[in-house]
Amino acid sequence: MYKLETIISLAKHRGFVFQSSEVYGGLNGCWDYGPLGVELLKNLKKEWWKAMTYRDDVVGLDASILMHPKVWEASGHLTQFSDPMIDNKTSKARYRADNLIEEFIQKLRKKKKTDKADTLEQKLAEVKELSGYYDLIIEYGIGCPVSGSKEWTEVRNFNLMFKTFLGPLEDSKSVVYLRPETAQGIFVNFKNVMETARMKVPFGIAQIGKAFRNEINTKNFLFRTREFEQMEMQFFVKPGDDTEWYDYWKQTRHDWYVTMGMNPESIKFKDHDKLAHYANRAVDIEYNFPFGWGEIEGIHSRTDFDLQAHQKFSGKKFEYVDTVNKDRFVPFVVETSGGVSRSLMAFLCDAYTEEEITNDKGKTESRTVLKFHKKLAPVTAAVFPLVNKNGMPEAARKIYEDLQKHFKVQYDTSGAIGRRYRRQDEIGTPFCLTVDGQTLEDGTVTVRERDSMLQERVNGENIVKYIYDKML
Ligand code: GAP
Repeated sequence: MYKLETIISLAKHRGFVFQSSEVYGGLNGCWDYGPLGVELLKNLKKEWWKAMTYRDDVVGLDASILMHPKVWEASGHLTQFSDPMIDNKTSKARYRADNLIEEFIQKLRKKKKTDKADTLEQKLAEVKELSGYYDLIIEYGIGCPVSGSKEWTEVRNFNLMFKTFLGPLEDSKSVVYLRPETAQGIFVNFKNVMETARMKVPFGIAQIGKAFRNEINTKNFLFRTREFEQMEMQFFVKPGDDTEWYDYWKQTRHDWYVTMGMNPESIKFKDHDKLAHYANRAVDIEYNFPFGWGEIEGIHSRTDFDLQAHQKFSGKKFEYVDTVNKDRFVPFVVETSGGVSRSLMAFLCDAYTEEEITNDKGKTESRTVLKFHKKLAPVTAAVFPLVNKNGMPEAARKIYEDLQKHFKVQYDTSGAIGRRYRRQDEIGTPFCLTVDGQTLEDGTVTVRERDSMLQERVNGENIVKYIYDKML
């Protein structure tokens, strides 16, 4: 496993991800995607969108980020969407109390104090009140990671929703929230979508969009940020059919990551110990990041909690009328909720590889290669003229321009071919095409495949089809 710092360093120096507002010292918990990062991000969302909505029973939606404040009252976010916060009196550092304890458990495990770690983990899972976290921090003598001090404030609840004002007046009546999840936009549009798209239960509504959480601590690069994107789908089912659909979506979402090239050994399911206020069953799909296992997507069986709540708060009916079976009910919901940036980070970690290879001259050299699935790779192909003369640049540019109508392609003339390969390997480009003397004679180009590094000659006129076929 490679170090997270190594992967972050590549991501920064090759233009995948930059710190937000870097010139002003950065803004904590916010990141900008550079030219390669944005291609990866868009490919990831495109593949999710295709997998989730190019089917009979799921349609798409793009709801607004700002919603009526009643939405968050009904959903329970105003009262319950909070994390336990604790301050260290000496360092003034602020922590999520549960995370502080979890990190202490990890330290115990590293020191092979397994029994103590297991007991504490068990006690943490049983905490019901805020004071329970405080008691554990004191009982186990957990110190501040910054100062080592054990002088703590009591634990308070901190609501994670960002507040702002709608319109020119900054008073309590104009308070609105930046959505902390995209899901509620789907719930409140349930009837609109069902009626206009003439959907019949069971069916789903999918959405990709920004979400905002004023996290107490951000950490691990893109893992926990304050602004991020979610890709969520709510699947509306007849009460009683929820278990079957929960199992279906749990497996389907797991398999999607594998289809997209993720190493199956690096992902696993983890059932929730504590259920969110809306769920009766919940499981995380976790990825084995360099810092340990972490959730990339949650599958939640949300019962009829949300639709009942919106029915109550809005006074509008959220019932489904089954005209065939002469039945009416408020549907149950199975939700798949993935983080775009977290998945991107998982795919990045999964793709990162350092290898020893034998170069054209028979010498051993090392290469860094991002082994992205071809559909996710930010650049699909690179075109090189072997030398920058003798008609090769003209022939290469012609192929480059043909390919550009279909794929994201780069054109590179600088340095030896080996160095150009290395540059493309480092950003994960699956195909490198070289135009050489033979191209001018018979129209064929060399295609070198990223992972195997095998080369074959392909007719330049067939190259678009060749790449499409290989992408399948
Ligand atoms: N609608 C349910 C919901 O939002 P969640 O488990 O709170 O559930 C779903 O979030 C996914 O959103 C997570 O699995 C994660 O991938 C992503 N996510 C949540 N908080 C995040 C954060 N602060 N930074 C990045 N991604 C986050």
